Amino acid sequence: MAATGTNPPGAGDERQAARWVQRMFEDVAPSYDFLNHLLSFNIDRSWRKRLLKRVAPILERPGAKVLDLCCGTGDVLLELQAASRNTVLGGDFCHPMLVTAQRKIAGRRLASAVFEGDALMLPLRDHSLDLIAIAFGFRNLTNYRTGLAELHRVLRPGGMIAILEFSHPRGWLMKAAYGSYSKFFLPLIGGLFSGSRAAYEYLPESIARFPQAEALEEMIAQAGFRETRFELLSEGIAALHIGRT
Ligand SMILES: C[S@@+](CC[C@H](N)C(=O)[O-])C[C@H]1O[C@@H](n2cnc3c(N)ncnc32)[C@H](O)[C@@H]1O
Repeated sequence: MAATGTNPPGAGDERQAARWVQRMFEDVAPSYDFLNHLLSFNIDRSWRKRLLKRVAPILERPGAKVLDLCCGTGDVLLELQAASRNTVLGGDFCHPMLVTAQRKIAGRRLASAVFEGDALMLPLRDHSLDLIAIAFGFRNLTNYRTGLAELHRVLRPGGMIAILEFSHPRGWLMKAAYGSYSKFFLPLIGGLFSGSRAAYEYLPESIARFPQAEALEEMIAQAGFRETRFELLSEGIAALHIGRT
């Protein structure tokens, strides 16, 4: 059975689960960027680049309205903005992550604007966007179907979603290597530098419970997206999902 949404330890319902996720990102916000690149050996940069490449045709549309959802500290947002002539929006429900994103935007004098909001209840009008990119945020939603319905609601006909998320390694060697990495190394190093071992135990657990790429693609199609497809990155450690409205 595919997971309905993330389910952190001790959360009795979706509201509690969302609050747990929000608090966890509040705790790790100060060390997020450093640990992100350290723990992924910088491979995450190439995954984000792939996302940028796939969404480029939409970014080039005159007047395209673009949202980086679950933007966190804004790494994808900055790259989307660099490739766009219009203001790119960033949305997230974790205030300290947005403060870092805002600092980067101001430091680079970019046109981007960020807002605080829940991905499951976006403060945006129906059919108002051309592109929504989500990097490593979707897995943390407490209800994947509600999240997809919300994305579909705010996209215009002809719009696109690009969901970059951890997935499940395919080959036995990668499976074994990744298994021990995420079980031992991740919580140890992540816990040490962030001061929140729980956050870096939640990370591999949430990935393990996350649907396989095929199941997620089916969910995306069931939410009404067309031309759905995915590509596996780094032998399935991550997957990039595309869908159109
Ligand atoms: C792993 S971080 C990814 C940040 C950034 N996209 C990146 O690639 O580095 C996940 C982000 O999703 C945000 N998030 C999780 N659930 C959310 C929700 N329901 N609504 C808005 N943001 C959410 C968290 O606050 C966090 O900043």
